[in-house]
Amino acid sequence: MLKKLFSTIVLWVSSLLFLAMDAHTQEQANIPSLWETFTPMFDIGVAVEPHLLNDENTPHILRHYRSLTAENCMKPNALYRPDGRGHFEPADRLVAFAKEHGLRLRGHTLVWHNQTPAGFFTDEAGNQLDKEALYARMEAYMTCVMEHFRDVVYCWDVVNEALADGGEETYRVESPWYKICGKEFLLRAFQTAHRIDPDVRLYYNDYGLLNPDKRAKAVAMLKELLAADAPIFGVGIQGHWDIHTFSPQELQKTIDAFAELGLDVQITELDMSVHHPGNREAPDGEKWEYTSEIEARQAEVYAQVFEVLCRNADRISSVTFWGISDQYSWRNYFPKKNRPDYALPFDRNWSPKKGFYSIVESFPKF
Ligand code: XIL
Repeated sequence: MLKKLFSTIVLWVSSLLFLAMDAHTQEQANIPSLWETFTPMFDIGVAVEPHLLNDENTPHILRHYRSLTAENCMKPNALYRPDGRGHFEPADRLVAFAKEHGLRLRGHTLVWHNQTPAGFFTDEAGNQLDKEALYARMEAYMTCVMEHFRDVVYCWDVVNEALADGGEETYRVESPWYKICGKEFLLRAFQTAHRIDPDVRLYYNDYGLLNPDKRAKAVAMLKELLAADAPIFGVGIQGHWDIHTFSPQELQKTIDAFAELGLDVQITELDMSVHHPGNREAPDGEKWEYTSEIEARQAEVYAQVFEVLCRNADRISSVTFWGISDQYSWRNYFPKKNRPDYALPFDRNWSPKKGFYSIVESFPKF
C-alpha cells in the first residue's frame, strides 16, 4: 500500500517536472531568433568560452547568434607561448564549432595592455624589451596567431583599449606598449596585421566611447592613423553600458563620428548592467533585488539601444552580446566581485527577459 502511494507520488512529481520543463522548452521554441530578426541589418553575435559549448547551451546559441567572439581564449594570455608556437587547444574547440555550424568568428584581441603575460614584454633574462625587440615580438606573435586562424576569423580587434579614460592624456600611458614604443605602436600594429593578412578586417576596439571626451580622443587618434594610411576597417564600440547612464543621443553621436571617418562600426561587447557604473553601490550585504520594475527599465534602455542601431544599420555590420546569459556574464564579478548582475537578454535559466522582447520588437519601429 505504502509502496503504491510512493510510486504514485513519484509519478505525479515527475509528470509535473516534465510539464514544467516542457513549458520552458516550448517557450524557447516559440520566441523569435535574434539573428534571424536582425539579419537584414547586421550580424548578431555572442561572446563564449569553449567549455560553454555543451548540450544545454548549444541549441540556444545556434538559435540566436550567428557570430562568435572568444570571451577569453584568443587573448595573448591564452595563446602566447615563449617558444612561439602558440597554445591553441581551447580556441580550436571554438573554431571547430564555428566551422561546423557556419558561424562567423571575430578575432579578439591582438595588442592589449591587459591579459597579456608580463613575459611578452621582457627577454629571457627578464629585462624589458626595447622598441625594436618588442616590434619583432609583435610581428612574430601576430604571424603565429593570425596564420593559425586565417581560414575562419573574418576580423580582428587589432588594438584594444589604447585610450586613456579621463584627464588630458589621449593614450593610456601606463600600458607597456605605450611605455616602450609611444603611440607609434598603434600604426605598427595595424600595418603589421595588414601585411600578414591583407584580406582580414582590422578594428580598433574600446569602451567608454559614448563619453564626449573619450570620443574626441578616439576621433583624434583615428584621424591621425588614417592620415598615416593605417589599414583600419572599423571601430568596435564595446558597449558595456548600464541602465542609469546610457544615452541614445551619445550613441548616435559616436556612430556619426566614426562613420564620418569612413569607418565601419560594430558593437562588440554589449551588455546592460543594472547597477551604477564603477563600484558605487549599496554597501556589501545590503539586500538588493532585481525587481520587475528594474527589469522593465532595462527593457526600455535595450529598446533605445536597438532603435539607434536599427536606424544606423547601414553603418553597422555586427552587434555582439558579451555573454550567452546572465548566468555567465562577466558583470557578475566586474567591476565588483560577488555582486550578481542581470545585464543580458536571457536569464540564468535561458528564459527570455523583458529586454529580449523589447530588443526584437525594436525592429524596425520607425
Ligand atoms: C573580460 C571577460 O569577459 C572576463 O571573463 C575576463 O575575466 C576579463 O575580460 N573589454 C574587453 C574584453 O575587451 O576582453 C573583456 O572581457 C571585457 C572588457
